[in-house]
Amino acid sequence: MGFPDPNPSSRGQAAAPDFDAAHFRRALSQFATGVTVITTRAFRQSPADAPFVGITASSFNSVSLDPPLVLWSMAHAANSLPMFRGGSHYIVNVLAATQLDLCQRFATLKGDRFAGVDYRLSATGLPILSNALAWFECHNRSRYDEGDHVIFVGEVERCGVHDSGGLPLVFQGGTFWTTNPLRD
Ligand SMILES: Cc1cc2nc3c(=O)[nH]c(=O)nc-3n(C[C@H](O)[C@H](O)[C@H](O)COP(=O)(O)O)c2cc1C
Repeated sequence: MGFPDPNPSSRGQAAAPDFDAAHFRRALSQFATGVTVITTRAFRQSPADAPFVGITASSFNSVSLDPPLVLWSMAHAANSLPMFRGGSHYIVNVLAATQLDLCQRFATLKGDRFAGVDYRLSATGLPILSNALAWFECHNRSRYDEGDHVIFVGEVERCGVHDSGGLPLVFQGGTFWTTNPLRD
């Protein structure tokens, strides 16, 4: 005796959603995330003058310790998608609460997002943002088209942690926060 299939006619295929996009977004936004800026460069141009590109992304998460894998996803509509798809590496920079300006800059600015921003270059020549809480230099291992996004899985070649132990930037319910310990 098993449980009856609640909807035998849709076995193997999801039923149409019973909600609209705004409701889905509101529900998803209850999940608190950190905020990252992911950087690469337009590798298809010659390395010397390949411009840097970067976007704000909250879809970052860990996947595997051995091998060290992380994931994030990017909208098909993003202008820099071809650069991230085609590049061999990218850097995931984990933002501190003091870096809200960078979060907004890399989400909205149309011009050179790196102008006036402090960074140093990684082993593969990509921008590591100064004062990021942590950074992960990833080989662009695999990409999966799903719906209106591409899921990127990166294999981490190098990573670093900022010594200051600063507070993280947190995004939840459409608002930016930082953390407070519930217990000491
Ligand atoms: C807090 C926050 C989180 C975001 N997370 C993502 C994300 O995970 N994936 C994504 O594609 N866009 C995300 N965005 C939107 C991009 O940062 C934004 O569309 C950016 O302008 C894309 O740059 P581009 O069009 O130059 O590639 C986020 C924006 C904000 C403010």
